[in-house]
Amino acid sequence: MKSEDIALMPQAEHPMLPVPNASERSRQDFVRSFKAVLQSDVEPGLEKLYHAKIKPEYVRVHGKEPDDRREIRQAIIKDPYFHAFGSLTRVSQELQWDTVLDSVERQLPELEARAKIPDPKLGSLILDPDLQLPRYVTGVDIHCMPGGYTHDAGADDVTAGALYDRGVFVYAMGMMGAHNEDIGQSTCNYLRKRFPDFKPKRILDLGCTVGHSTLPYVDAYPDAEVYAIDVGASLLRYAHARAEHMGKRVHFSQQNAEQTNFPDGYFDLIVSHILFHETSSKALPRILAETRRLLAPGGLAAHADLPSFGDLEGYGQFILDCETYYNNEPFWGAMLEKDQQDECVKAGFAPEDVFVEFAQVALFEEEGRAFRPGEFGPPGTGWQVLISRVPNGVEQ
Ligand SMILES: C[S@@+](CC[C@H](N)C(=O)[O-])C[C@H]1O[C@@H](n2cnc3c(N)ncnc32)[C@H](O)[C@@H]1O
Repeated sequence: MKSEDIALMPQAEHPMLPVPNASERSRQDFVRSFKAVLQSDVEPGLEKLYHAKIKPEYVRVHGKEPDDRREIRQAIIKDPYFHAFGSLTRVSQELQWDTVLDSVERQLPELEARAKIPDPKLGSLILDPDLQLPRYVTGVDIHCMPGGYTHDAGADDVTAGALYDRGVFVYAMGMMGAHNEDIGQSTCNYLRKRFPDFKPKRILDLGCTVGHSTLPYVDAYPDAEVYAIDVGASLLRYAHARAEHMGKRVHFSQQNAEQTNFPDGYFDLIVSHILFHETSSKALPRILAETRRLLAPGGLAAHADLPSFGDLEGYGQFILDCETYYNNEPFWGAMLEKDQQDECVKAGFAPEDVFVEFAQVALFEEEGRAFRPGEFGPPGTGWQVLISRVPNGVEQ
């Protein structure tokens, strides 16, 4: 797909998607355009201002250039242009959820009815009402989504799933693909090219939300059983119904990735997509240790996420870090600063079996292009993938 077409691409419909009526669509289109203007016009203005005025002033006072996101933030924070940029960005996010929530609430009875999947089902859904939900998920409405990931009005509620499915498409302005699947699809494509002889029998997706990134694995590895877990019940009801309506067999269950009920060595491939940056520093080592426990000999884990700050120059770090402060992403900054390869080694993987690579963005494959400035990774790259492997013949 050509980059200019992505901005106009509609979201692919399926029976669970809350489809906007004419007035909701016009509000959602407004938010999408508003976000596009912020990204293409307003943010570049901030960058110019930084280089022309704010950085030279910092150098005059401190005798050196600002080194990293913290020093740039300190230098820029009082500037009125930055205030305007920050406020408009936050307002665009609030407007996005307002309009999507109205649309979801209007259609909720129909969506709940469609989520009741008759037998025989392709996959399965197991919810655990006694699961203790992690405070780092319940304590904040991540990226301002009303009610957060774990809001659940009980029984048949699919609100959180419907909100996320439509909201992410508006937020990403199509850059996640027509099914919001791009990061999962890109990681799948990367794995198949990079490890052509790898034929996983069981695959687990951690923090699957509504299964956007899970479903590409069903097609990429048709002989594998695909499992997916999340802590949010409403998300999982929606994820399961969406997968069934789309004809994909996935076994969803409500579990904490820090400690699951799967047996040792049960999976050949464990994946996660944009999970780590929404996870606390205490949870990350536990998730990695659980991943190690669950991997069979010869198994592989692939965690796709945003780039580490170490891969970005100062201004790039600063602009990405605005999500930490203004988009309810409290773990974002700290997680992108972590040495995640070192965390994998501490969790029991051998240093030579841990590495980071970049997956070509599936959406840009036809154009053969990489990320550009202001997209989801360092210019010239694709999605960052952290690989950790268990060699064959290693005891569990
Ligand atoms: C940004 S979303 C992930 C998106 C999804 N992987 C995708 O690619 O579409 C983060 C998800 O991780 C889930 N999550 C966070 N901590 C978790 C944990 N410890 N165990 C399971 N799920 C978790 C949240 O509930 C949320 O649904």
